[in-house]
This record gives sequence, C-alpha cells and structure tokens, in this order.
Amino acid sequence: MSATDSTVQKKRWRFAQAFANLTKRIMVLTQYHYINRIDAVDKQVRLMNYGWIDPQSRQPLMPLDPDEEPDRNALQLYHRVVTAIDIRDKEILEVGSGRGGGAAYIAKYLDPRRVHGVDFCAASALFANKYWKRPRLSFSPGNAEKLRHSDNAFDIVVNIESSHCYIHMDRFVAHAYRVLRPGGYFLFADFRPADQIGDLRTELEKPGFQLIEEENLNNGVVLALDADDARKREFIEEKVDERRKPMFEIFAAIIDSPMYKAFKSGESAYMRYVFKKPE
Ligand SMILES: C[S@@+](CC[C@H](N)C(=O)[O-])C[C@H]1O[C@@H](n2cnc3c(N)ncnc32)[C@H](O)[C@@H]1O
Repeated sequence: MSATDSTVQKKRWRFAQAFANLTKRIMVLTQYHYINRIDAVDKQVRLMNYGWIDPQSRQPLMPLDPDEEPDRNALQLYHRVVTAIDIRDKEILEVGSGRGGGAAYIAKYLDPRRVHGVDFCAASALFANKYWKRPRLSFSPGNAEKLRHSDNAFDIVVNIESSHCYIHMDRFVAHAYRVLRPGGYFLFADFRPADQIGDLRTELEKPGFQLIEEENLNNGVVLALDADDARKREFIEEKVDERRKPMFEIFAAIIDSPMYKAFKSGESAYMRYVFKKPE
C-alpha cells in the first residue's frame, strides 16, 4: 500500500469514527429529551437507573417517605454507591444526574455540605432544577467529557449509570480526577460487557486514582429489574409511542429483553467502584 493510500484510509477511518460518535450522541440526547417530553405533565420519572435490592436481606435498605417508595430500588442503588464512604459535610458533584432524584436523595438524607448535578440533556437538568427545591442542591447542563468546574473544587464525584453513554471515557475520568481535591473520592457505578471490566478498571485508575472497593452488583440489579418490571411496562404502554416501544423495552431492561438476559447470565457486569485521589 502506498503512503497516499494509507493516509486516505486513515482519513476515512477517522471520518467513520466521528460519524459513529455523533450518531451515539444524537441517540442518547433524543432518548432523554423524549423522556422529558412524555413525562412533562405527570413528572413520574425522577430516577432512570436499573435499581438495586440487597440480595442478602432482600429487605428495604433505608426508610423513605411514602411518595418516594415508587423509586425505592433506584434510590437503593444510590444509597449503596454513596454510603460506601462518609459523605457528611462534603461537597459533591454528580455527573449524569438525570432528572435529579438521586442527588435530591443525597441532599435530603445524607447531610452533605452541597450537591451539584450536571447532565448533558439540558431538559433533564432544567427539570431537576425546577422540580427539586432543596437547600444545598442545584443542577446545570454539562458534558461529563468537558466539565467546566475548577480544579480541586469537590470532595466527591458521583457517577451512576451514565458513563456507558460517553464517547471519550478517558476525558471524563481525567476531569473527575481534576475537579476532586486531594484525598477526594470518585464513586462510580455502571455496566459493561463482562469481558471489558478489566479495561474499564484500568481506564478508571488511569489518572492516578487508587482503587478502594470493587463490587459486582448484578444479582441485586436483576432483583430490582424483576420488582420494577410491571411498573415500567405500564409506563411504556401508556406513554411511549408504538414506534419507540421496542427500543424502550430494551433500554428499560424489561424481563426477557436482551439487556435483562445479559445481566442475568453475567454477560453484562454492573459494577460499583470506590476510587480515591491520593492526598
Ligand atoms: C440512565 S440515566 C441515569 C441518570 C441518573 N444517574 C439516575 O440514576 O437517575 C443516564 C444519564 O446520563 C446522561 N448523560 C449521557 N451522556 C452524558 C454526558 N456526556 N455528560 C453528562 N451526562 C450524560 C443522560 O442524559 C442521562 O440523564
């Protein structure tokens, strides 16, 4: 192959990559904007993760107010991730905060100094800012891969079930490291194909984070998917237009969808990590 051929091939490859990235970004944004549109009146969707039930006890993990019970399993995932360390009086940045239910839970129950959530979907961040009126809690639109916060601005970065949407995971992890103060914690949970977990761990450690804890949450996630299945099906049936229903069923990991089966078989691993930025 001549040098010109190889340059042309490289350019084509870069173009194809940029196109694939743009498509992924548009799909993610379209999906989350759509949720904001169909839930504009009822405001039922306050959390958007797969949830977690403690597989040991199968009992409620923490007390909640009655109006929070529908989101119990999604909140239990937050509780599990965030209470791995003592977050009292800490300044917390949540990246990929969605419609804000998780950050609101942290602000209400876990006594942080403040929580700020950012989400790439501006409609979600704006919803969260309007809906959750709590002291020491705020939201703004923002991209995980280009965080605009200053260096050493937070004690804790929380990231729950959002990173699988990112195009440049390395840029996000570098920003998470940068905005954390020395001694700060990065609390992360998300899923990947099981054979990519080693690469994920390496990527997360790369800026210099020390790995403190690692846990596979699959069993508890599958219990939550089972428990929340009827509610999710009802929502999809009532709110989602016919054309989008099959995609939503996969996205929501309803029972027997490919996502559900992947968690159940272990083909996909839902991981939780605690990392520390050295002092
Ligand atoms: C499955 S939802 C989880 C939201 C929230 N953590 C929860 O558990 O309810 C994933 C979220 O990641 C957000 N997201 C995707 N790409 C992002 C990016 N590059 N920067 C910030 N947020 C992003 C989406 O807009 C969406 O709100």
